[in-house]
This record gives sequence, structure tokens and C-alpha cells, in this order.
Amino acid sequence: MDIECSKEEIKLFERIAASAGEMGVQCYLIGGFVRDKLLGRPTKDVDVVCQGDGIRLAHLVAASLPHNPQVNFFKNFGTAQFRHHGFDVEFVGARKESYSSDSRKPQVEAGTIEDDQLRRDFTINALAISLNKEDYGKLIDPFNGVNDLQQKIIRTPLDPDVTFSDDPLRMMRAIRFATQLDFTIIDEVFDAIGRNKGRLKIISQERITDELNKIMLADKPSVGLDLLYRSGLLREFFPQLTDLTGVEIIEGKGHKDNFYHTLQVVDNTAAKSSDLWLRWAALLHDIAKPATKRFEEGHGWTFHGHEVVGERMVPKIFKQLKLPLHEKMKYVAKLVSLHLRPISLTKEDITDSAMRRLLFDAGEDLEDLMILCESDITSKNKLKVKRYLENFGFVKQRLKEVEEKDSIRNWQPPISGDDIMQIFNLSPSREVGVLKTAVRDAILDGLIPNTHDAAYRLLLEKAGEMNLKPVN
Ligand code: CTP
Repeated sequence: MDIECSKEEIKLFERIAASAGEMGVQCYLIGGFVRDKLLGRPTKDVDVVCQGDGIRLAHLVAASLPHNPQVNFFKNFGTAQFRHHGFDVEFVGARKESYSSDSRKPQVEAGTIEDDQLRRDFTINALAISLNKEDYGKLIDPFNGVNDLQQKIIRTPLDPDVTFSDDPLRMMRAIRFATQLDFTIIDEVFDAIGRNKGRLKIISQERITDELNKIMLADKPSVGLDLLYRSGLLREFFPQLTDLTGVEIIEGKGHKDNFYHTLQVVDNTAAKSSDLWLRWAALLHDIAKPATKRFEEGHGWTFHGHEVVGERMVPKIFKQLKLPLHEKMKYVAKLVSLHLRPISLTKEDITDSAMRRLLFDAGEDLEDLMILCESDITSKNKLKVKRYLENFGFVKQRLKEVEEKDSIRNWQPPISGDDIMQIFNLSPSREVGVLKTAVRDAILDGLIPNTHDAAYRLLLEKAGEMNLKPVN
């Protein structure tokens, strides 16, 4: 395995080597940077470890660079960082660490490069390259990390129970790397995740979710989601998702395993879009199936209303996982709530009004909704898949035609909620919503023209039925 470096990188490494030489300390490139270079993956995060004061080394290197970057440093952790030509360069002194059982904050002592490599998470992340005069450029690989890179396996330098107990986030990282790099976690390590899963509770939810999002952004998120499930980690922080697993059979009728169906939908979505939130909508589209599952005699399994219950579950799940609670959450909830609508439009005698409603409800997210719905087709029967996709093709075409005719997607009704409050001197209330919907629906259904006058007349009529009068 060879390493290719740009001129910029070579110049930077020579500066670091020169400054370390001045200080009389040994120094090395280490971790993800070395791993990614050996794999030929692009990387902009350079980690440097030195047998001495990492903060001082960072200052010396920064001072020797033409643009003299500002150094950010954390005395308590002994780390320092600066940015250089798009690179994020981090320095740390080599250390020995020991952990206590109730925290992932280690007690740190200065150590040698060997100590430092031994305390790292995986053999593929413990590779170092010397920046020292006597063996500049030499790969230092005490745990056969290069072999593991070639074999595509994830292994820990120490007994995995020790590595994971020291820092339980590493269990998430193992699964994340396996997913991103398409590597296999060796059995011994995978079994240790199962044994140590309960230790995840000392990790903040933000960090867990950060890893989960990296899994969601991989080419095939199902690999990681399945490993999370099978190791037992998923149930520790996301039981609603593991509740989707399993098949129940009554009167010889079973339903599909909604967990593995969901994983397939996420992968299908990922093949069409790199948008994290669209992938989240795929992950959550059927989340309320366990809560709405019924067996109807003579008919079979139903999940009536799972899109509505699912929409309501989204905010709770976002809060629990510490995901952002604003537009992104609303977007995911909206797609979950609408995910059955395009399918309902594949029947033959669908009116323009039903098309207008979907155009209005989906608005700017219509293309994403269609990606989700197409991804939701996971039948193994090729003929069925072909037929469903053709039907969606017709729906798309009709939606396009209705949109061209009526321009509904960015449409706003001629009378707004604010107008209604002013006209009847109302504060925000249920009545305002009822009136607003009545006006909107009458236009979408083609009952009245899309004009202010017609909308106003209908508004007065509906308000009259509710004993409301305009104030002037
Ligand atoms: N590391 C570790 N245990 C952790 C986190 C990090 O041992 N819980 C070590 C690994 O040697 C890792 C290095 O610190 O390679 C840098 O960590 P980080 O930047 O988080 O990850 P990378 O391996 O660089 O990978 P990525 O940038 O994809 O997160």
C-alpha cells in the first residue's frame, strides 16, 4: 500500500519535522489521516502526535508558516489545532491513558509512541508515519494494521473488552467504520460489543447520534443499522426502531418484517439521494407500524393510520436522539405523514382535485416524497415492482400536468389566517383554522375560482354558519 501526498502536504510535513527537530522531540503522523491515505480516500484532517509538548510544537509550526495561522489549544487535554490551506492540523503529546468505569474521561500521563498507539481504538487507526530525521516516512505498524486494511477487517489493538470499556463510543465507531469502509468487524470484537453495550449510557446522546448520522450518510446505511441491531446497541438508544423487527403469523398470515423492509427503503433512498434528512424520513416512514398493527379476521394484517401516528412520533424521537428540532424535523414529519399519498393516486379515476391537494400539501418537497415512495417498493416480485413504478410514472405525469395548469405548489390561498383574524377580530384559535381550511379546500376542489372575491364570499358564508360576523 502506497501513500500519495500533495506538494502542500509534503511542505507541511517538512515544516512539522523541522520544528520537532528544533524542539528535540520525536513526532509522527497518526490515526485517520494515515488510514485514509493508505486507502486512497480523500482526507483533510491531519493528526500529529509527538513525544513531548504538543501545544508548543503546534505554536512553533504555525509560527514557521507564511500565513502564521492562529493556534487554538486546550491546556487540560494537551491538544492544539490550526487550519492551513483547508487542512485541519491537530497536535497532541503521546500519552498513556487509564480510564475509570464511570467516565470516558481518561487520566492522562505522558508516554511513548508505542503507548499512544496501544490506547487507540482500532489497529487501522493506530498506524503512524515517522516525521523524524533518522527514519522519515517510515510506517510504524505494531499491530499489523496494514494487513487489516488489506483484509478489510476491524480489530482492536488491546482486548476489545478493555478498548470498549475504556471508551464505549468506540462500539459505535466500529460499526460506523465497518459501514463507511465496507469492512468486517471480527467476531471477537463484535461479541465484545454485545457484552459492553450497556456502557453506552455514559456517552452523551449527541456523540452517539453523530455516529448514527455518519452511518446514515454512508452508501449503504443498512449495513450499519443491521450491525447496530444485531449487536444490541440499537435497543440501548433507539428502541422504537428495534420494535419494527419480527414477523407475527395468525391464521397462516404473516406480515413483512418491517425493520428489514425499512433498511431496504433507506438503502434505496440512499442510492438516489445523499440528503441526510430524506434518509431519515425513509428510516422513520413506518415507525408507527408496531403501534397501529391489528389483525382483522378474514382480512389479515393492517396498520391503519401509521402515517399519522408516525408523524406524531417524529418530534419525540428527534428530541430523544438530540436531532435538530426545527425545519429538518418538520420536513421529516411531513414526509412520514404523506408517504402513502402518491400510492393512493395510482388508481384510475383520480380527480384533478386529489392531485392539487397533494401538490399543495407536498409543496417544494414533492420530488423528495416521490423518491421516498419509489424507494418504498421493496417487493421481490420483479413484475410487481415494474408495475408499481409504471403507475408512479403516470402519477408523476399527471401531477406535472395539473401543476402546469394550476400552479399549486407555491400557491397560497387568496385569504390568509391573518386576514381571517382581522376580518372577524379573532385571536389564533380553532375557528381560524376551520375557516382557512374551508376556503383552501373549496379552491383546491374547484368549487370556487381562485380569486379574492370568491374566497371572501365563501368565507362570509362559512363564518355565518358559525355565528361569526365581520367587524366592519
Ligand atoms: N480515536 C480513538 N478513540 C476514539 C476516537 C478517536 O482511539 N473514541 C483515535 C483513533 O486513532 C482515530 C484518531 O483518534 O484515528 C482520530 O479520531 P477522529 O478524528 O475522531 O476519527 P478518524 O479516525 O480521523 O476518522 P473520521 O475523521 O472519519 O472520524
